[in-house]
Amino acid sequence: MTVLLVLGFFVVIATAHNITFLEVPRYGDPHREANLVCHYVNEKDDPPLHSVKWYRGRDEIFRYTPGQQPPTRTFNTTVERVTRGSCNLHSCSVSVVLPRIYNTRLSFTCEVSTEGPRFAVVKQVKNLTVAVTQKEDPVITGVPGSIQLGEDIIVNCTTAPAMPPANIAWYVDSKPEMTEPWMVNNTQVSGPNEFGLRSSWRSLRLRVATARGFLLLRCEATQPTWPPYMRSTNATIIVTSPHLSKFTASGSQRSAIEAFLLITCIVQLISKYSALSEI
Ligand SMILES: *[C@@H]1O[C@H](CO)[C@@H](O)[C@H](O)[C@H]1NC(C)=O
Ligand SMILES: *[C@@H]1O[C@H](CO)[C@@H](O)[C@H](O)[C@H]1NC(C)=O
Ligand SMILES: *[C@@H]1O[C@H](CO)[C@@H](O)[C@H](O)[C@H]1NC(C)=O
Ligand SMILES: *[C@@H]1O[C@H](CO)[C@@H](O)[C@H](O)[C@H]1NC(C)=O
Ligand SMILES: *[C@@H]1O[C@H](CO)[C@@H](O)[C@H](O)[C@H]1NC(C)=O
Ligand SMILES: *[C@@H]1O[C@H](CO)[C@@H](O)[C@H](O)[C@H]1NC(C)=O
Repeated sequence: MTVLLVLGFFVVIATAHNITFLEVPRYGDPHREANLVCHYVNEKDDPPLHSVKWYRGRDEIFRYTPGQQPPTRTFNTTVERVTRGSCNLHSCSVSVVLPRIYNTRLSFTCEVSTEGPRFAVVKQVKNLTVAVTQKEDPVITGVPGSIQLGEDIIVNCTTAPAMPPANIAWYVDSKPEMTEPWMVNNTQVSGPNEFGLRSSWRSLRLRVATARGFLLLRCEATQPTWPPYMRSTNATIIVTSPHLSKFTASGSQRSAIEAFLLITCIVQLISKYSALSEI
């Protein structure tokens, strides 16, 4: 990194350390410590490393000064604290205990300064949101293997435990579920589990009316974090028209041959109808 310093009438070009990568997880689980790592390089001919400082917001939480004894120092702040720090001339990692306040956004800064006389300083900032993200895709239950045109179905979508809890949206053939204006938000949230995490669920009631031989359902579970954390699951339901009921299987698993027969029948049916309409 090149820093221009104007000193009186002199223009001095000073090189400094460069931060190559700052590792701050986007989401931090308050049940475990967050590991933050700052990677930096010493450009050729640079003066040596003076110090590496970690800040949470504006509060300094940790300092590494290789030329001092002891080289590391931890500062206590009200919200979180550093339990471990391990630094050398190339990287500096700290473990931080996070507050159990979900959806809090914490900003962490790594600041690297080069030895005097100029003490050139470089820094990088990244945010972490306190959240436990969904570890798995949501699960759709109650999906019948096939269904007849005009029938009603009720399916259910449930998320893995998470915090803050996810909001669930349903899509039918890529279109958002039609909801009455007074029930915009009808995601249900379970009680907390042993870790204080909550699952969300939302059921979808639907009358099957599609000209195609199948229905695409999509459940999207989005945690209201910043940035929002979304996971989703798709399900396909084969729709048969009552004429074809002799081909429907009783089980939920349908073989490829049956599916092929169905599609063939639907295709024949469609061509029959179009032939009729041409008369
Ligand atoms: C400093 O590192 C960044 C990558 O983080 C790189 O894009 C940039 O070119 C580097 N600057 C110098 C002067 O090496
Ligand atoms: C920082 O706080 C922790 C507990 O909150 C305490 O155990 C530790 O001694 C404190 N450290 C300093 C240097 O004050
Ligand atoms: C970090 O969060 C602050 C607000 O807390 C926001 O202003 C800033 O743009 C965020 N930075 C990044 C890199 O997302
Ligand atoms: C949906 O699933 C959740 C748990 O996964 C259950 O508590 C709820 O009763 C189910 N709802 C319906 C309408 O089946
Ligand atoms: C799920 O369905 C959506 C459209 O509803 C589609 O864009 C997406 O690619 C599908 N995902 C998978 C894994 O099939
Ligand atoms: C839905 O409800 C949850 C919790 O009750 C809330 O956090 C979220 O903002 C609501 N979403 C909408 C779109 O109203």
